[in-house]
Amino acid sequence: MMRRPYRIALIPGDGVGKEVVPAARRVLEALPLPFDFVELEAGWETFTHTGTALPQRTASVIRGCDGAIFGATQSPSQKVEGYNSPILALRKQLDLYANLRPVVSMPVPGSRPDIDMLIVRENTECLYVRQERLEDGGDTAVAQRVITRRASERIARKAFELAQARGVLRQKRQDVQKARQALVTVVHKANVLSLTDGLFRETCLAVAKEFPDVQAEEQIVDSMIYRMIREPERYDVIVAPNLYGDILSDAAAALVGGLGLAPSANVGDHFTLVEPVHGSAPDIAGKGLANPCAAILAAAQLLDSLGESEMAQRVQRAVRNALADGIWTADLGGTATTEALTDAIVARVKEQAAER
Ligand code: NAI
Ligand code: MG
Repeated sequence: MMRRPYRIALIPGDGVGKEVVPAARRVLEALPLPFDFVELEAGWETFTHTGTALPQRTASVIRGCDGAIFGATQSPSQKVEGYNSPILALRKQLDLYANLRPVVSMPVPGSRPDIDMLIVRENTECLYVRQERLEDGGDTAVAQRVITRRASERIARKAFELAQARGVLRQKRQDVQKARQALVTVVHKANVLSLTDGLFRETCLAVAKEFPDVQAEEQIVDSMIYRMIREPERYDVIVAPNLYGDILSDAAAALVGGLGLAPSANVGDHFTLVEPVHGSAPDIAGKGLANPCAAILAAAQLLDSLGESEMAQRVQRAVRNALADGIWTADLGGTATTEALTDAIVARVKEQAAER
C-alpha cells in the first residue's frame, strides 16, 4: 500500500537558493517515495514586493507540512526598517532549538580524510537573542548574552542521544572491536565567562551522567578550533552554545570541501527545517554555477528526520559517487554546472533503485 505523501515546504529564497532548492527537489523526486511539495515565499525579494520578508502565509502553511527545505536569503548589510531575517524568525516560531551540522570527508581534492563528526549547535539563545544597546552617547555598545539551564539541558540531551545512536550505527556497520566509542565534546569558555558558559558546561556535564555508554569531555573554544583543525578525525559529536557552534561549523566545513558541500538541519521536537549552510551567493547567482550538493545533502538530513534513513543514505551515496567520478562545480575546481551535477546525482539515485 502506498503511504500518504510527505508534504514538504520548499522555500528557495534569494540568489542561488532558487537554483539549489529545485535541485534538491529533483533528487527527492527520483526516490521511490511519494512527496507533495509546497512552494513558499520568503526573503529579500519577497520583502521588496510585499513589505515583509516572511509572509503570514509562509509562516502558517509551513506548520501543516512534514518538514521544510530552505535555500538562502539575502540580508541587507545595513539595517532596513521592517526587514527581519526569515530564517531566524522561523527557527524561533517553530522552536527549532538544535542546529545539526554533519562534517564528513568527501571525495574531492579540498577534503581531508577520515573525518566524521556532527556539530550540535544551540539554536535559540546566547548572543543571538540580539539584545544590543548603545550607552555613553554611542561610544559604548553592549550586547547581552543569555544562557539558560533549560536550553542547555535540551541541547545537551540531543547531543548525547545522537552520539549514542551514531555509536550503535558504527557497531552495526563494522566489527564491534574497531567501532570507536561514542564521544561528546562539550565546548565552552567557562574559564572567562564563569556564569554563562559555566552554566552551559555544568548542565551538559550533568546530562552526560545519564549516558554511561557515551564518553564525555570538555574543551575550551579557542583550543577546540585549534585541535579540530589539527586532528579532526578524533572528534565525534561536538556540542556548543550558539555563537561558538556557528564559528566552529563554518571552520569545519573548510576541512571537508567547503560551503558548497555543507548541509545543516534546524531541529525541534516536532519539526525539521533543513538548509545549506551557505548564503545566497550573489557573486555567482543566476549563472548556473552553484554547487547543489549542500542543499541535496540537507534534503538527506530531512529524510533522516522523517524516519527514511535508508533513502537518506541512498542520496548521500549518490552525491559521493558523483563527486568521486569527478563531476565537480567551479567551487570544487571543476567545470560542471548546477544542472550537470544534479543530473549526475539523480542518475545515481535511480541506479541504486534499479540495483535492488
Ligand atoms: P555566501 O555563503 O552566500 O557566499 C560565500 C562564498 O561562497 C561566495 O564566494 C559564494 O560564491 C560561495 N558559495 C556559496 N554557496 C555556494 C554554492 N552553493 N556553490 C558554490 N559556491 C558557493 O556568503 P556571503 O557572501 O557572506 O553572503 C551573501 C548573502 O547571503 C548575504 O546577504 C548574507 O546575509 C546571506 N546569507 C544567508 C544565509 C541564510 O539564508 N541562511 C547564510 C549566510 C549568508
Ligand atoms: Mg554561519
